Amino acid sequence: MRYRKLKQTDLEVSEIGFGTWPISGHGMGKVDERDSENTIFRAIEMGVNFFDTADMYGFGYAEELVGRFVTSSFKDMIIATKVGMEWDNQGNLRRNLQADYVIRACEDSLKRLKTDKIDLYQLHWPDPDTPIEETMEALRKLVDSGKVRYVGVSNFSVEQIEEASQCMPIVSNQIEYHLLDRTAENTVIPHAYENEVSILPYKVLGRGILTGKFKEISQFEKGDWRSEEDIFQKNQLRQSLERVDQLKPIAASCGCTVSQLVIAWTLRWEHVPSVIIGAKRPDQIEESCLGSGITLGPDHLQMLDSLFTQSAGVR
Ligand SMILES: NC(=O)c1ccc[n+]([C@@H]2O[C@H](COP(=O)([O-])OP(=O)(O)OC[C@H]3O[C@@H](n4cnc5c(N)ncnc54)[C@H](OP(=O)(O)O)[C@@H]3O)[C@@H](O)[C@H]2O)c1
Repeated sequence: MRYRKLKQTDLEVSEIGFGTWPISGHGMGKVDERDSENTIFRAIEMGVNFFDTADMYGFGYAEELVGRFVTSSFKDMIIATKVGMEWDNQGNLRRNLQADYVIRACEDSLKRLKTDKIDLYQLHWPDPDTPIEETMEALRKLVDSGKVRYVGVSNFSVEQIEEASQCMPIVSNQIEYHLLDRTAENTVIPHAYENEVSILPYKVLGRGILTGKFKEISQFEKGDWRSEEDIFQKNQLRQSLERVDQLKPIAASCGCTVSQLVIAWTLRWEHVPSVIIGAKRPDQIEESCLGSGITLGPDHLQMLDSLFTQSAGVR
């Protein structure tokens, strides 16, 4: 495993970050708790030190799972969590970045994570109903009290990051970025280079599409939100699978799997210190971890770039 610096911080994060949504048991299909624990354990064994979660993943459950590992024996874990998607007893979600909610949610996350500080606290989605100054004031208090080390955002546009950065340093932006959606290359990635902001891409494996494992239009079990997502809709999926098929010989010529090729392509950016990858089983995270340290030459990068041109993507 290789490690890179998260810009503006003293954190050296693993190139593969462990994304905990799939093991939350909510929105990504059923999971087995023993498998989930073994997957986290395998990630640690493979050198992963960067764990990304959110209070809303499984309504606190994913944070609790991570918290089981935040002990003195795993003291090198770097924990990133998120705030801003409030849920009610029926599981309905709404955006909320009001100051009192952010402070309360942080206290709850600290308890579930069994820690006294969150390394990277991220605003999950912009909240158009709350002035950003109010949210940042709350975050300032959390930083001053030592409960939060660094502040990041997620799903923020360039304009929204610039607004938030007026109040305090924003060290990272977690965004959807993968071969099937390269929109960020025209927007937040150039901005990140100019402003020393780290980009933390998610859906790097296209929620499984870019592993090459889906042969045809997939049927997901009830409660798996993938069935609703754009990238899994019939025509888009068929086009994507045709391109993924063409990745197979390229991966073979690089001596790696399709997932590893895709991970290496995403890590080509200097301002991407870590890619956030989901996994439900130890073998899945193991395969992804072996994508760290693969450097693609210009010819291979060019092949992937032209196969998945920005216009060939889903947006
Ligand atoms: N900030 C945000 O708004 C936001 C949004 C989404 C995600 N995220 C973060 O990003 C993380 C990862 O993103 P993601 O879950 O959306 O997508 P992803 O990493 O693209 O896909 C993960 C899924 O792909 C499948 N998979 C992984 N490795 C595999 C392998 N080696 N072989 C075959 N299948 C494999 C597994 O699903 P199956 O086995 O079920 O097929 C796994 O759950 C999340 O956990 C979360 O931390 C953040």
